[in-house]
Amino acid sequence: MVKVSIVRGDITTMAVDAIVNAANSSLLGGSGVDGAIHRAAGSRLLDECRTLGGCPTGEARITAGYDLPARHVIHTVGPIWRGGGEGEAALLASCYRNSLLLALEHGCKSIAFPSISTGVFGYPVAKAAHVALRAIVDVLYDHPELDVTMVCFDEKTLGAYRFDWNMWYAEYKEHHD
Ligand code: APR
Repeated sequence: MVKVSIVRGDITTMAVDAIVNAANSSLLGGSGVDGAIHRAAGSRLLDECRTLGGCPTGEARITAGYDLPARHVIHTVGPIWRGGGEGEAALLASCYRNSLLLALEHGCKSIAFPSISTGVFGYPVAKAAHVALRAIVDVLYDHPELDVTMVCFDEKTLGAYRFDWNMWYAEYKEHHD
């Protein structure tokens, strides 16, 4: 049975193989979780990010974790919400899929995600949760050894992801009993 842990917390404290950063395409830092990760990792993270030459929306890049308890940071660039008619859902799904595939390529067994695109980028959190959890589960079907955690920074986000997970689980049980 595939499983995604959904917790409330600060992703910079997660002692996992990789934490995912909701970055922008420059990969040169920002506010939100991007700012928190860079502050906690220290300036060497930015030094390495500078060597990557940016990252297109929907793709992911990996660096070391430096002063973070996490071994790696996987930087992904979520879509800016523009109403839902510009391929935002597909781009958001590819953020989760590409981050998981990159983690697997680097032998990561445990990975923690923030709620990508639902802050500054304005993606409605209930819609984002629906896309995120199904994209994660699609990879977990083929890689059940992965330990995935969604780290929600506030109650509203936690509630949205837990609600959607319960909906998905009910559907899953209906089709797998
Ligand atoms: N741990 C976990 N989640 C966090 C943390 C943290 N320390 N800090 C913020 N978050 C949450 C936010 O509350 C939100 O739910 O991360 C989610 C994503 O919000 P943003 O960080 O604003 O990211 P996003 O919406 O993807 O916008 C990305 O913001 O910071 C800039 O450089 C970044 O331009 C990029 C844009």
